[in-house]
Amino acid sequence: MDLYEALYTTRAMRRVHPDPVPAEVVALMLDAAVRAPSGGNTQNWRWLTVTDEATRRRLGELYRQAWDELNATIYAGRREAAQATGDETTVRIMRSSQWLADHFAEVPLVILPYHRNDPSGASIYPAVWNLMLAARGQGVGTTLTTILGIFRPDEVAELLGVPTDKGWTNAAAVTCGYPKGRWGVAARPPAHEVTYAERWGEPPAWRIDEPLWPDHLPAP
Ligand SMILES: Cc1cc2nc3c(=O)[nH]c(=O)nc-3n(C[C@H](O)[C@H](O)[C@H](O)COP(=O)(O)O)c2cc1C
Repeated sequence: MDLYEALYTTRAMRRVHPDPVPAEVVALMLDAAVRAPSGGNTQNWRWLTVTDEATRRRLGELYRQAWDELNATIYAGRREAAQATGDETTVRIMRSSQWLADHFAEVPLVILPYHRNDPSGASIYPAVWNLMLAARGQGVGTTLTTILGIFRPDEVAELLGVPTDKGWTNAAAVTCGYPKGRWGVAARPPAHEVTYAERWGEPPAWRIDEPLWPDHLPAP
């Protein structure tokens, strides 16, 4: 797959079929993940792949609790506000996120990265993104979710036998499966609106009015 296609179209793919992801694809995803950079090359990570049905069912219950808690706290009023202001993107994301909360146990594969001894907290995410891009290359949809680690870390650790005295912290639960929908380019406010040149507040010399992939890539 073309590098730019993967960069532009790897989206949160929450609605997936229950068909299993083959072991060789899972192996490729993890092989790509551990190629990623980490601060000081510490590679202080562990990856837990979960396919067992009973475990996924329990993870699904915990995910649903975490989702409800998110909506009662950090996201309180978000859906209503989006509906009231006609913010279609947020309404769509909330609907899709609700689907995942309702169907988490049907997702055939969940990969949970754990990290430790990383004061920046940043070293794990290039590897998680490598994992997701490798999945994309194989036609597997992924979603980076974090609410289990925020709201139910202890219950998840107990369920999965993660040692609690070794400093491991859950970074995410990446849901993986073959997509029900199609991939498209993410609609975002253009990069020139969120980029400054030389000094805060100064606009860059360029504008991008539509995504550069697929039709406007500069020649290499
Ligand atoms: C750090 C991080 C945490 C996220 N946590 C969740 C989550 O807990 N549940 C979920 O459904 N999506 C989660 N997402 C996915 C985002 O909602 C998604 O990337 C965003 O809405 C953009 O949508 P798109 O990928 O379709 O363009 C997370 C994404 C990131 C980067």
